[in-house]
Amino acid sequence: MAPWWIDAVVYQIYPRSFADSDGDGTGDLRGILSKLDYLQDLGVDVLWLSPIYPSPQADNGYDISDYRGIDPMFGTLEDFDALLTDVHRRGMRLIMDLVVNHTSDEHPWFVDSRSSRDSPKRDWYWWRPASADGPPNNWGSIFSGSAWTLDEPTGEYFLHLFARKQPDLNWENPQVREAVYALMNWWLDRGVDGFRMDVINLVSKDPHLPDGQKLPGDLYGDGSPYFRNGPRLHEFLHEMWENTFAARDEKLAVGECHGTTVEMARLLTDQDRGELDMLFHFEHVEIDQARIKWLPREYTLPELKEIFARWQQGLADVGWNTLYWDNHDQPRVVSRFGDDGAYWYESATLLATVLHLHRGTPFIFQGEEIGMTNFPFTSIDQFHDVESLNYYTQSVEVRGRDPQVALSMITPMSRDNARTPMQWDDGPNAGFTKGTPWLAVNPNSDSINAAAQVDDPRSVLAHYKRLIALRHEDPVVQLGRFDLLLPDHPRLWAFTRSCEHSRLLVVANVGGEAIDCDVDMTGELVLTNYPDQAAQLRAWEVRVYRQELP
Ligand code: NOJ
Repeated sequence: MAPWWIDAVVYQIYPRSFADSDGDGTGDLRGILSKLDYLQDLGVDVLWLSPIYPSPQADNGYDISDYRGIDPMFGTLEDFDALLTDVHRRGMRLIMDLVVNHTSDEHPWFVDSRSSRDSPKRDWYWWRPASADGPPNNWGSIFSGSAWTLDEPTGEYFLHLFARKQPDLNWENPQVREAVYALMNWWLDRGVDGFRMDVINLVSKDPHLPDGQKLPGDLYGDGSPYFRNGPRLHEFLHEMWENTFAARDEKLAVGECHGTTVEMARLLTDQDRGELDMLFHFEHVEIDQARIKWLPREYTLPELKEIFARWQQGLADVGWNTLYWDNHDQPRVVSRFGDDGAYWYESATLLATVLHLHRGTPFIFQGEEIGMTNFPFTSIDQFHDVESLNYYTQSVEVRGRDPQVALSMITPMSRDNARTPMQWDDGPNAGFTKGTPWLAVNPNSDSINAAAQVDDPRSVLAHYKRLIALRHEDPVVQLGRFDLLLPDHPRLWAFTRSCEHSRLLVVANVGGEAIDCDVDMTGELVLTNYPDQAAQLRAWEVRVYRQELP
């Protein structure tokens, strides 16, 4: 039997930027509760909450200091229970972010681990003595600088693939794994419906931690071949599944898996293996980046189509795809792959349509459904994100780059583009808070906001609602076979989804010039983003036809 998520749409909430109920400038759980009518009306089935656990907030909550609580800035466990109850009452589900590749350095496990070389928890993290060059190996952190920090009192280094306040847990130690399964069960017992698992394919590392390759001009070696998709990944995930999900029904495990191939994904998401249900790969969201995310790369539409098609084909008979453009780590899709100026509405709706009509489970990031755009950054003071700030500092201080150049490098890709407050209305602070928002509201909130779209049938929001409804009601959207048409066409993104008796044809003009569309556009027009018909496909026009099959 097909799993429940074939017709589900997930909505990601970044709690600190969603809705602030108490005027302290930061979103919170009561704020989310107050917006459940909006989310129910949108039609989404699952809410994924980015981390709300107690945290020093060095990486906006992806640095957890207590896995069994709620950070006071978001509310209390009672608030959480009230939210979960209301979500369930409405027939929706809620999944938590599970961040267990690393903890905060303020987590009691790490505090204990660093207290002495003899600590019983010493081996819960990756401690190593200095090498002749200082750090134990040459790995760079994903957030710039070395992946190692020296702990002076005990004279050893600890590994942190992200910020220095995010030490990596040592999953080789069975006690660590047991502790993780226990905290997962604690939340599952509380009623949550599953987890989005942060960087879960980093939990198995080559225990020898060999140096990585260092290319000319690089400051550090690339350790990813040794810390990603490691030798025990499948074993760990299956063990996790057996100890948490196996005895429970209808729970969802979504893994964030940077650097996995389709072949790996087939294994990781094969329902018969008991590892994950689906995963996020990054191929399509790295298409516009050169070797590092801050260096732009020219790409073509055929390349983008090929990535989607390859994942569709690869997971057609086994496993399952996620479908996403946006999340809290990615710039806004309409600014990135669309046109957030003249064709803002058309390109936002085109990108949504193309994505949602692939086979897989779509993920919407808050604000995507109203076409929120990137932020017009002009100064480094407007940034908050540790990844952006670390890269800026390294660029200026270590590489000696001109600060303006460094600023222009981080601006288009910075994660802060996604993290600006949700734009609810055209009032002060976009209706997000009555206080001072922790991150500035995008100045375009006077025109781009939910209130302006809620009753407008020709809005980005209305279009998302139609797409979600279509997935709920149409078996072709859920399970239909995917076939890409005209893969080499430089402007047209066209594909079909077919079941036995009917198929959907999607044709999309990815660009601002009208084009001829050499595809049989007959049948019932079920969705489009233009009010009338024309022979050509106009700028950013998308059409979806239903065609009966003989
Ligand atoms: C991936 C998360 O999505 C990102 O926001 C975070 O900074 C890193 N993992 C580290 O937890």
